[in-house]
Amino acid sequence: MCGIVGYVGQKQAARILWDSLSRLEYRGYDSAGIAVLNGAGVATIKCKGRLKDLRERLSELPPATQGIGHTRWATHGVPSDTNSHPHHDCSGDIVLVHNGIIENHRELREELARRGHNITSQTDTELVAHLLEENYRGDLLQAMMDTVPCLEGSMALVALHESEPGKIVAYREKSPLILGLGEGENYIASDIPAILPYTKKAVVMGDGEFARVSRDAVEVFGPDRKPVSREPVMVDLKPEAAEKAGFDHFMIKEIYEQPEALSRAISGRVRGSSVVLEPGEYGLTDDQAAGISRIYLLACGTAYHACLAGKTMFERFAGVPTEAVLASEFRYQDPLVDPSVLCIGVSQSGETADTLAATREARSRGAMRIMSVVNSALSTLAIEADDVLYQRAGPEIAVASTKAYTTQVVSLALLAVRLAVARGRMTPHEAAAFTRELKELPAKAQTALKLAGEIKELAKKVALKEDVFFIGRGADYLAAMEGQLKLKEISYIHAEAYAAGELKHGTLALIEDGVPVIALMNDPSLAPKTASNVMEVKARGGWIIAVGTEECLNKLELDGDDVRLVVPATHPLLSPVTSVIAMQLLSYYAALEKGADVDKPRNLAKSVTVE
Ligand code: M6R
Repeated sequence: MCGIVGYVGQKQAARILWDSLSRLEYRGYDSAGIAVLNGAGVATIKCKGRLKDLRERLSELPPATQGIGHTRWATHGVPSDTNSHPHHDCSGDIVLVHNGIIENHRELREELARRGHNITSQTDTELVAHLLEENYRGDLLQAMMDTVPCLEGSMALVALHESEPGKIVAYREKSPLILGLGEGENYIASDIPAILPYTKKAVVMGDGEFARVSRDAVEVFGPDRKPVSREPVMVDLKPEAAEKAGFDHFMIKEIYEQPEALSRAISGRVRGSSVVLEPGEYGLTDDQAAGISRIYLLACGTAYHACLAGKTMFERFAGVPTEAVLASEFRYQDPLVDPSVLCIGVSQSGETADTLAATREARSRGAMRIMSVVNSALSTLAIEADDVLYQRAGPEIAVASTKAYTTQVVSLALLAVRLAVARGRMTPHEAAAFTRELKELPAKAQTALKLAGEIKELAKKVALKEDVFFIGRGADYLAAMEGQLKLKEISYIHAEAYAAGELKHGTLALIEDGVPVIALMNDPSLAPKTASNVMEVKARGGWIIAVGTEECLNKLELDGDDVRLVVPATHPLLSPVTSVIAMQLLSYYAALEKGADVDKPRNLAKSVTVE
């Protein structure tokens, strides 16, 4: 994810900015840049690629004691030198870095171009620099205050103006910013690790707040533009812990990042009740969309489970026969690919060898188009596919996929709705109902996370078991498949998922006293039938852990040690997002109980680049 740093003091800014950026490297990025300001004006270096490439160019910058820096994780516009931050206005007097997404960027671009601005990049950020230029009347803070009402979305903005040496101006809205306090110097950063070696004293900016930072002062202004008095806090973190934002493991940090990740995945893509995707994200013409005879969704592991959820949406909404295929098996099934077949590769890393092999196979067989859902920019799948819908989950470091799964489900939902509308299969009313549910998902994910305390206790008992079964019907079965993978890969407990109706065709033989059966129930139309299957398990002594909506769980008669974990109701096809969050938490706490290496489970790698 993008990182922001700023410095104003007495030391050489470029070195400090580079060093601070390198402390944000763990977050992932595809390009980086630094701008410094001295008496002679603003100087900028920026490039696609790694921070070490930027270090080699630090000598191009003049001596300066003030500057801003950025690491970029591409959202609007490909990773490139031009799209890297900092961005300038037409005059080059204003430089700006930005984290977040400006949702109304299309309208702004058109308006600014009409008013004659020379827009050089594909980014949403550059547009803000031009708006600042229009609003600048000798005071950058005032210009920032006049600019943000024109912006929709999430943003941490940090800017300087050539005519105002010694000052940096910032604004925060739904994207974090902290102000680090030093002696005769001050810092700005999007994340604590960036400033830890320099100061542990910081002011945390709140949403809607502005700041003006100089060598000797840090001033904060509220949304009403009036000064705010804010006590600094002491940051008591080791740099390594700070990378995990105070969490013990990357996995639990990433589990908790899901509401924000889901928001980003949806941000700017659901407008009113429509799904709006950029040409590079969805490149099908309406004629092509109408002519699709079949869709193959190609992926491995967790991403495959997300595809299973996606398959139902493509079939139900867009009316296209769809198959989710394990990418490692695709080539061996002699797939029926021809120019009427759309293939979509789904991969967090974009580097999974089997997924790449499958999408290449599809291309060689003449597929209509290779689309993709990818998290990592610059990855091979992102480059090779005709279209890339970025998940915007932010870097996922733990081996166990969590936020990658939920953002893949949502990304596939967006594609399914977009295709359904193009094919005239979804009425505006239906699209509105579903997109409303999509927009509510981040808040519902947040509610699901509140189960953590209860699940932590439950995990103590689950960790003692040798086998765990997961059951569900419809989308609950698909979520169960992800639940069992999560549990087994990090806690090493044997786990299996079954379609609830299949139990009595064999697996029921394994149920005896105390065997845990996790029953997922989120679809009211299927709940009565799953409830009967739960009773079959209970009759044989099974221990029921029911995960689902209040309405569905009310169909159950539980007693004794049985457990109910209530998650918020959503559209049944989106329920894997909410119920899988509960299962991620269960897996995490069970693995902790067992003393397993949660972030790096044995025998597994984050990115599987061999077949
Ligand atoms: O990077 P990808 O999404 O292509 O990775 C695919 C699988 O290796 C991955 O989803 C794996 O199953 C998970 N890390 C498991 O949690």
